[in-house]
Amino acid sequence: MVATAGAPDVHVPVVSSLDDVYGSPTEETRERYRALADAFERAYGRAPSGFARAPGRVNLIGEHIDYEGYSVLPMAIGLDAVVAYGVNETSGKIRVGNANPEYTEKTFETSPGQDVDTSSLHWTNYVMCGYKGVFDFLEESGGKSVEPVGLDLMIDGTVPTGSGLSSSSALCCASALAVMSAHGLSFTKGEIADFTCKCERYSGTQSGGMDQAISIMGEAGVAKLVDFNPIQTNDVYLPENCAFVIGNCLAVSNKAETAHERYNLRVVECRLAAMVLGRKLGMSDEEVVETQTLQDIEKRVGNMSSAKAAAEEYLHDGYYDAREIEEIIGVDAFLDVFSSPASKAVLNHNVTGYKLLSRTLHVYSEAGRVHLFAAACAMKVDPAELGVYMNGSHESCRALYECSCPELDELVDAFRAAGALGARLTGAGWGGCAVALVSMDKVQDVLSQVGKTYYASRIANGVITEDDMSAVLFATLPSNGAVVLKTTSFD
Ligand code: GLA
Repeated sequence: MVATAGAPDVHVPVVSSLDDVYGSPTEETRERYRALADAFERAYGRAPSGFARAPGRVNLIGEHIDYEGYSVLPMAIGLDAVVAYGVNETSGKIRVGNANPEYTEKTFETSPGQDVDTSSLHWTNYVMCGYKGVFDFLEESGGKSVEPVGLDLMIDGTVPTGSGLSSSSALCCASALAVMSAHGLSFTKGEIADFTCKCERYSGTQSGGMDQAISIMGEAGVAKLVDFNPIQTNDVYLPENCAFVIGNCLAVSNKAETAHERYNLRVVECRLAAMVLGRKLGMSDEEVVETQTLQDIEKRVGNMSSAKAAAEEYLHDGYYDAREIEEIIGVDAFLDVFSSPASKAVLNHNVTGYKLLSRTLHVYSEAGRVHLFAAACAMKVDPAELGVYMNGSHESCRALYECSCPELDELVDAFRAAGALGARLTGAGWGGCAVALVSMDKVQDVLSQVGKTYYASRIANGVITEDDMSAVLFATLPSNGAVVLKTTSFD
């Protein structure tokens, strides 16, 4: 592990050639940019002034702990969102189109104060999150005041939606960069990672900062140990004789659509667990109300093992209902403690109750596994050890955090049976992708075996076709983070 001190302090690179973005871009990539520039020109009658590009990510370990303040270990991937942009002096509007006609276009006012329409779940919501984020940041940082200008945007994305590879953050980050660039603004990577994390919450999910941080700060050849508050990254060199293989289980899980019963519910459960633990540990009313994360509890008791022990002593298995929590924390109407509309929606809709012990045990054990994994990479131990941590992570996600699904479990089993050293779900879960660690010499075997054991029946049933295979099962390497590209030549 090598500290890249200052990575958050550098600015997103502005480059002039596709080679600086992708290393050795394929002809298909060049063609993709030509097609995007053409789509822009057809829609808006002139060439774009630039392209903002932000990648998706695969998280190697550390699931559902970023919003609890704990470090995670993702890498950027080659799949990305690209926003072709240009200022439109006369329209006074933001026009947003997509190179893929399945995604309908939309036009917005330029007022940064407008709400993101979470009731519509339209794909452009993530563009508007990025748009608002730039102006929120300007306001918060007390910098120069910038007059919003009319914008024309045309987007092309290759990260499959609902796949756990963070298509939403890729789009939000690329949009924010396009908006910045069009307004002549440049901020540091750390600033952008921070504000894109906050502004993506306008979409209705209360996600942590992992996806945006790695999309902005990813680098070819290394995974990143990402710390929060403040955001910092350390390079993690992965074993050279291994590859990561990604498989899409084909169950789609759109975070925003299911937020109040899945993702945001977990965020709320963790905060409730922290408040209950805080009270049991003698916190005052004021301290309980201010407790945000399970990491706050760890800080209070001094270390992770004491925090785990407190959870085991003071929390019970199974569900708590609202009344029981209210009685323990002794704060009337604990609903009022939660200020965000997303959390209020969870609390208002909840009929199942809240599991506090199992969620807490997942968070604390997963936080530990991230550091074991990073240390094992630094010490160049037998990669089989990394596989053990990945398997442990999946089991914890499945049994304690309950964010897996039967298809993901089946795919993870298929990877292990095919000879992967370890496999786990990646991203928010409840569908989407699994990631497997595979010795380089076994990659072809694993791809072909999993192709048979997991995907052949899905091809036979018409869920996917043979042609889709390269998009649903593939090996991947850490790739570059976000850039702004200014060129008209893609040769
Ligand atoms: C989503 C969120 C991230 C993170 C993961 C789960 O991708 O956007 O912030 O919480 O889920 O690890």
